[in-house]
Amino acid sequence: MMDAIECIRTRQSIRAYLDKPVPEELLRKVIETACWSPSYKNTQPWEVVIVSGAKKEALSKMLIELFEKGATPTPDIPEPVSWPKTQEDRINHLFEMRKKATGIDLSDPEIIKKAKKANFNFYGAPHGIFLYQDKDLPLWSLFDIGLFAQSLMLAAHALGLGTVPQAFLTDYAKEIKEFLGIPDSKRLVLGLSIGYPDMDAPPNKIRTDRAPLDEILTVLA
Ligand SMILES: Cc1cc2nc3c(=O)[nH]c(=O)nc-3n(C[C@H](O)[C@H](O)[C@H](O)COP(=O)(O)O)c2cc1C
Repeated sequence: MMDAIECIRTRQSIRAYLDKPVPEELLRKVIETACWSPSYKNTQPWEVVIVSGAKKEALSKMLIELFEKGATPTPDIPEPVSWPKTQEDRINHLFEMRKKATGIDLSDPEIIKKAKKANFNFYGAPHGIFLYQDKDLPLWSLFDIGLFAQSLMLAAHALGLGTVPQAFLTDYAKEIKEFLGIPDSKRLVLGLSIGYPDMDAPPNKIRTDRAPLDEILTVLA
């Protein structure tokens, strides 16, 4: 098994999957491992639904229908409307890199439409995972469920699985919660796709880069 440093450095978002379901035991192992994430006062403010098979297909269908009819999104965590300059520059850099590597131009509305549909199709993954928590939990709990999400993705990667975290999978939170039987008193935080990665597929051949360390690190002595 790879070590922690290698696992963190080689995890990447997977946007094409093999048509092969993951045994439930393995999915349970991923979630059980993620439960060992730290949390504020060990409150463990995370709950999880895994959706597969016909149920996942029906969910994709519902999301694409909502999107195509122009339904108003109902995310529990609002979509950002603007970013500070540093982050906006990094987003533009990501889009430029993607355009160079795949020809996909994410400033083209038609392409955005296609990309959204691919998101709602879980990028062809056999399973979807939804993370949620009580709406009245404090901001620290949102931090904690973020740690949980990273642990989940690293555990999956260590076990030979691929994942991609997807804010888009929370666009229609109201409808998704209803579909999955999650009460509206819960905040839908994140959707993810999970499955065996198809590493020959072009979308998985792109590796994002990171800002130089000195842009984010100050060492004082
Ligand atoms: C909270 C969060 C939301 C994201 N939402 C989406 C999404 O809706 N669709 C998608 O394809 N990727 C999404 N991503 C993946 C990011 O684009 C990706 O993590 C980033 O570009 C870095 O690439 P890497 O994961 O391959 O290292 C999201 C990532 C995070 C952490």
